[in-house]
Amino acid sequence: DINIFRFAKKNIPLPLDSNFADKPMNIEKEMLPKHLAIIMDGNGRWAKQQGKQRIFGHEKGAKIVREIIQEASQLGIPYLTLYAFSTENWNRPKLEVEALMHLLSRYLQKEVAIMQKNNIRLNAIGDLESLPSKVRKELYKAMEQTKDNTSTTVSLALAYGGQQELLQMTQQLARKVQQGLLTPEQITPQEIQKALYTQEIPPVDLLIRTSGECRISNFLLWQIAYAELYFTDVLWPDFTPEQLHKALLNYQNRERRFGKTSEQL
Ligand code: IPE
Ligand code: IPE
Ligand code: MG
Repeated sequence: DINIFRFAKKNIPLPLDSNFADKPMNIEKEMLPKHLAIIMDGNGRWAKQQGKQRIFGHEKGAKIVREIIQEASQLGIPYLTLYAFSTENWNRPKLEVEALMHLLSRYLQKEVAIMQKNNIRLNAIGDLESLPSKVRKELYKAMEQTKDNTSTTVSLALAYGGQQELLQMTQQLARKVQQGLLTPEQITPQEIQKALYTQEIPPVDLLIRTSGECRISNFLLWQIAYAELYFTDVLWPDFTPEQLHKALLNYQNRERRFGKTSEQL
């Protein structure tokens, strides 16, 4: 429960106020994650609860994406990465995959104007070549149009798989070694980072997963090495800016030791 947390740094007890997490002013701006990643899960179950088709949940989910992007950028989070479609999601029923791709293409068409207004840069990570060409074109267009924006960089993980990303990184580096551009000893964490989809994006500080599942599902395997993990039972279509504040407050009350002792910090 949020009320039992204390501000780690200042040792101030949080007020016993159930609406406490609703107030973004309680979030310390200097202690925000640089990189927030979210596994947006639970659209299907949400729709089922309403007695509707799964796609209805995906549509509501897309509206939540807009709200959370806006909130993250207003709070001042520089990097936000959203898991929207995994390599494994290709194995869903053909109709659902088609509906998701259609939704994505509509979302991109609509969203660019809003992103421009909010100074948001759109990025995408994943095996983008495997996406339908219409979606890919919309995506590249949106990325091109927003490339000079400077508030939050939003990376959509599309046809993304962490193992697939590590595989293509390994192949890239192996080719460089084969061509004599790199020796095996010159393969450093920095070289690996440069060969990932996330290149210049810093490591994940906070990873949120909605819908109660406590697993990573092949998301950002290299980049979450020292991320704080936050799991909530809230289904993605019910996730609100207040839920985000709650996760951020929880994050700010953790001690990130990176292998050191508490006393060393
Ligand atoms: C997440 O919601 C969206 C995608 C994976 C595309 P789900 O569709 O996985 O919803 P649940 O997990 O079945 O409820
Ligand atoms: C993970 O959700 C992928 C996305 C949120 C896009 P899934 O619903 O596909 O994950 P699993 O299969 O339950 O682990
Ligand atoms: Mg799911």
